[in-house]
Amino acid sequence: MLPDSQKQTAHPATSARRPRILLLNASLAGPTGNSARLLALLAPRLAPHAELHHAALAGPAAVTFASLEPALHSADAFVFATGTHWDSWSSPLQKFLEDATPAEATALWLGKPAAALVTEHSTGGKGVLSRLQGVLLTLGCTLPPLSGLVLSHAAQLARQNTLTAGPADDLWQPADLDIIAHNLLAAAAAPRPDFRSWPVDRTDYTKPWLEA
Ligand SMILES: Cc1cc2nc3c(=O)[nH]c(=O)nc-3n(C[C@H](O)[C@H](O)[C@H](O)COP(=O)(O)O)c2cc1C
Repeated sequence: MLPDSQKQTAHPATSARRPRILLLNASLAGPTGNSARLLALLAPRLAPHAELHHAALAGPAAVTFASLEPALHSADAFVFATGTHWDSWSSPLQKFLEDATPAEATALWLGKPAAALVTEHSTGGKGVLSRLQGVLLTLGCTLPPLSGLVLSHAAQLARQNTLTAGPADDLWQPADLDIIAHNLLAAAAAPRPDFRSWPVDRTDYTKPWLEA
């Protein structure tokens, strides 16, 4: 067993360069929504160990997949943040994912860790989180353990009225961003495994296939 002084860890401080993490705010409200607030809580937890880049899909500085593509390429890891809208993610995020389809299973995504943050009033957010994580995996990203949460207004109100720590601990809270940040940084700092991608139709995928 190595003495403590010689142990290697996956902490970013020990890696050659700080990982670049792109924080993508997919809120309908751009910089004034809850997703922006949640990312603003996450950013200080990442910033000491990473180079952060911010982008929003709505608002005065809105980006598109095309305009963001160079930054996506140079990023080592991603954070996606969206509200819940009729049981789904935001329409700007849906458009972004549709536009990202030609980059499916390419080096832009392959093996890069992604965290996902979802907010909701009351219900539907966990379904959004699970499906979004599924899409990110299929694009080619990896998911660190415990790298997604749903922050619910209803759950925050319940926490305020629950004095017992046990049940309240089962409700996601902003403090859980510590774990999201730690696990994303750990994954981003670790050497990326030699992942491979399968063939994808990049020429004809929008062509109608139903025989009339
Ligand atoms: C059009 C619309 C639909 C919404 N649908 C849901 C919903 O299905 N479930 C829910 O819990 N909250 C719903 N909400 C509330 C938002 O998910 C919540 O306020 C979220 O934090 C918004 O994130 P944002 O400010 O980053 O866009 C909806 C809000 C809007 C504007």
